[in-house]
Amino acid sequence: MAVARPRRGALGLRGRIVGALLVTTAATLGVAAVALLGPLEHSLRNAARQTLVRDLGKNPTSAFVTKLDLSALLQADTGPGSPASIARQSLYQQQQALANRIGGVVEVLGYPDGSDNGYLLLPFGLEGDSAELDPFDDVVKAFQTGRSVPSFGTIDGKEYARVAFPFKKDGLRYVLAARRPIDEIPGAVRAVRTAFITAALAGLALTLVLGIPLAATLGRRLRRLRQAALQLAEEGPVVEVPADRARDEVGDLARSFALMQHQLHQQEEARRAFVATASHELRTPLTSLEGMLELLEDELRSGDPPDVQDARLLLARARAQSRRLGRLAADLLDLSRLDAEVKLRSEPVELEEISRAVLAEFARETRERGIVTELEDSAGPVWALGDPGSVARILRILLDNAVRVSRPGGELRVAARGGGRAALSVRDRGPGVPANERELIFERFQRGRDTGGQAGFGLGLAIGRELAERMGGELRLQDADGTGAEFTLELPLARAPEEDSPGSPS
Ligand SMILES: Nc1ncnc2c1ncn2[C@@H]1O[C@H](COP(=O)(O)OP(=O)(O)OP(=O)(O)O)[C@@H](O)[C@H]1O
Ligand SMILES: [Mg+2]
Repeated sequence: MAVARPRRGALGLRGRIVGALLVTTAATLGVAAVALLGPLEHSLRNAARQTLVRDLGKNPTSAFVTKLDLSALLQADTGPGSPASIARQSLYQQQQALANRIGGVVEVLGYPDGSDNGYLLLPFGLEGDSAELDPFDDVVKAFQTGRSVPSFGTIDGKEYARVAFPFKKDGLRYVLAARRPIDEIPGAVRAVRTAFITAALAGLALTLVLGIPLAATLGRRLRRLRQAALQLAEEGPVVEVPADRARDEVGDLARSFALMQHQLHQQEEARRAFVATASHELRTPLTSLEGMLELLEDELRSGDPPDVQDARLLLARARAQSRRLGRLAADLLDLSRLDAEVKLRSEPVELEEISRAVLAEFARETRERGIVTELEDSAGPVWALGDPGSVARILRILLDNAVRVSRPGGELRVAARGGGRAALSVRDRGPGVPANERELIFERFQRGRDTGGQAGFGLGLAIGRELAERMGGELRLQDADGTGAEFTLELPLARAPEEDSPGSPS
């Protein structure tokens, strides 16, 4: 037998699961990092600049407006006690006080010559070195626009939040430039980035640690199922499917697979039992037919004139066996048609009329055995939806059984009724069906205690029930009420066909 070879891509299920987990984890952390780190840095910087503006106070230039004495500052004599030295000292103290308050650097810049050609850092600024490195872009802008300019800048690799305030004194323009280092922001962003990378690495490691065993377990469980499926294909449904009690999809698959195997096993058992019983049932009449024919042959060969009486008896018995064989063949054919799901017709069937016709088939036998049959008056036609041949077949099965179990002089009633559903029932006054046989008798090759002393195969009711179900109805044994048995066939009701329609009974 050809064994299905595994067809797998380069990665297989395990590789794909682990890969998908890794990609998902990495992508999630990457997207989170991009979405968080950029805005975080931006808002931290803005916050730092706003704090600087707030710390500088509402009007940081006012003190300089009063204290700034340019003519004194520009005097050549800067010796101790000179007006220039005193003015410088005063401005320096003012700058220093503000610088201390904000924890940064404060410088005053202006156009001492009154021209707009450039600016000059007044010579008492403390940060001489940084002043050379500082491009003072914000100061230039503040001079040009006459508005305060908040900005960021880097001096000698160090980042600052800055604000430049323009102000006037004696018709001359100055700018107060304040800045404060913001080293803690890149530090904080670096810390968050490091935390992210650590989380990403931990996440990926965890994904591998959890994903690989999970994928391996899944693969192992699926391989076990595959193995069982291959074995089942090779050896048939006797193979046991390994139990998988896990509460997940693979567990569900394994349980469904086990259920399928169980049902296949049952069907296989039923098929074997059926074939065994059917061949046994066929062999019995065949053997007895063979025996009778042999006897007949012996009789004819013996040379003496044959005993005609004996020969007639043997022939009659042989014919009975051949009829029995014919019936069995017909029953088996019916069953195989039912198993092959041959479609039944679905059309309006008038139950009273069909009952009358089938009862007529039994008229000779019932008369000979003194059985009284009666078709109850149903006060009008009862239309059911079904297959006319199958309805007649079911009625034949029921009447055949009822006639078999009825004693001479017994009574047999057939009734057709409408209502919610159409019903056709056959009632006899025979021995009835014992409680423990009520369901058994509907199974194939199952006969009950009372068979009316006649041969049969135990197939009638099984065929009848299956036919009824295939027509959307049911065949059941009514609850015992007094003596005898009552079987009822229920079918969907049908609307009476139009009188002149082609399908109507003539
Ligand atoms: N009206 C009845 N009263 C009592 N027992 C019944 C009646 N009808 C059926 N049975 C029981 O149900 C059994 C199954 O009936 P079923 O028609 O399936 O098979 P059968 O009559 O034994 O054989 P066959 O295949 O020839 O019909 C019978 O053997 C009998 O024991
Ligand atoms: Mg029967």
